[in-house]
Amino acid sequence: MAATDLERFSNEEKRNLSLGGHVGFDSLPDQLVSKSVTQGFSFNILCVGETGIGKSTLMNTLFNTTFETEEASHYESAVRLRPRTYDLQESNVHLKLTIVDAVGFGDQINKDERPIVEYIDTQFENYLQEELKIRRSLFNYHDTRIHVCLYFITPTGHSLKSLDLVTMKKLDSKVNIIPIIAKADTISKSELHKFKIKVMSELVSNGVQIYQFPTDDEAVAEINSVMNAHLPFAVVGSTEEVKVGNKLVRARQYPWGVVQVENESHCDFVKLREMLIRVNMEDLREQTHTRHYELYRRCKLEEMGFKDTDPDSQPFSLQETYETKRKEFLGELQRKEEEMRQMFVNKVKETEAELKEKERELHEKFEHLKRIHQEEKRKVEEKRRELEEEMNAFNRRKVAVETLQSQSLQATSQQPLKKDKDKKNFFSLPSACSIATGRYVN
Ligand code: GTP
Ligand code: MG
Repeated sequence: MAATDLERFSNEEKRNLSLGGHVGFDSLPDQLVSKSVTQGFSFNILCVGETGIGKSTLMNTLFNTTFETEEASHYESAVRLRPRTYDLQESNVHLKLTIVDAVGFGDQINKDERPIVEYIDTQFENYLQEELKIRRSLFNYHDTRIHVCLYFITPTGHSLKSLDLVTMKKLDSKVNIIPIIAKADTISKSELHKFKIKVMSELVSNGVQIYQFPTDDEAVAEINSVMNAHLPFAVVGSTEEVKVGNKLVRARQYPWGVVQVENESHCDFVKLREMLIRVNMEDLREQTHTRHYELYRRCKLEEMGFKDTDPDSQPFSLQETYETKRKEFLGELQRKEEEMRQMFVNKVKETEAELKEKERELHEKFEHLKRIHQEEKRKVEEKRRELEEEMNAFNRRKVAVETLQSQSLQATSQQPLKKDKDKKNFFSLPSACSIATGRYVN
């Protein structure tokens, strides 16, 4: 269709026409209901509150059943999110209910809210990935996005802990938060009243956005605005049944009396159930999709480089964005490749220089050793020469002594009478001795 045709088409005035008889499209709402009922619903609740605050008991009380529970230890090394999904049926409506427990939250100082935020984001991411697929199957996709976070406040009667404020602040743009004061039977009526006011004023002064029951639908506007004023709900949970009058009711029994869970003058449990399940369940699901998921999706797509309009306020083309991103990516890849190549060359050069230096050092060492060796050799040679000379001198003296000896022997044999005397004289002569040993002289 040409652009001018499109403009004319969109500018065309709408006219009201009356029908001549019954056509049937008034059954559209019924068709919708029937389709939704066949498809079933999913609802996901995140319970955040310190260990043993009464999360599981409240869930059991809310849905009037017994969900699987296992007590959390106070010594968990980190906060862990534990989702459990149940198929529930009421009349002909099927509900896939997921209850997610933030196990270990608030136990020790290092237990922070990050794993909770990450879990919520992961569910959004999974949905986004499904949406971005070419072959999407959102119709039978198990939507695990968190529709509501029940934030369990410890009934100290004092004020909110900083961990509560920080956590709620981090979560408020990602999930619908309904704050509830747990174990409200452990705090007196007047203290509870003051505590509720304190909690709300702290939430407001810290800019924490909690979920407001919607007042735009006339049918529920009144009840919702009344209930908004009752927040945070002070609840009591119990799986125990106690006989009150001739009726069995869920209650907590104490030596001084019975706290009835469903008695509105005892606690706000009924208000919470009405608001969460009977009146606003669909709004919570819708808010999750249209507000929180939308925000996540927008940020994610913008991060990826997608925009609705370009700087000249012209609609942004997906193809152009893709091309720009592709070019950016390739450019970045090339830059990285060049960087790595340069790094490699530098490394090789460095190693080469190091090796050369080592070679030079080795060579120097070799030359030095060679010089020492030659010096030693020269000294040894000299020593040898000296010794040889000494040996020659010694031999010469030895020969002289031997000659003298033989001469004296000859003389003795010729003059036998003078033999003994001469012999004595010869050996007592210092000159003879010195000739014989050679060393005496030196
Ligand atoms: P973890 O899952 O282990 O963190 O505990 P939890 O928060 O699920 O608490 P759970 O429901 O297991 O309750 C812990 C204890 O608190 C049990 O002994 C409950 O009976 C008790 N309890 C639960 N709700 C209430 C309540 O409203 N008032 C009082 N006084 N005690 C409660
Ligand atoms: Mg529990």
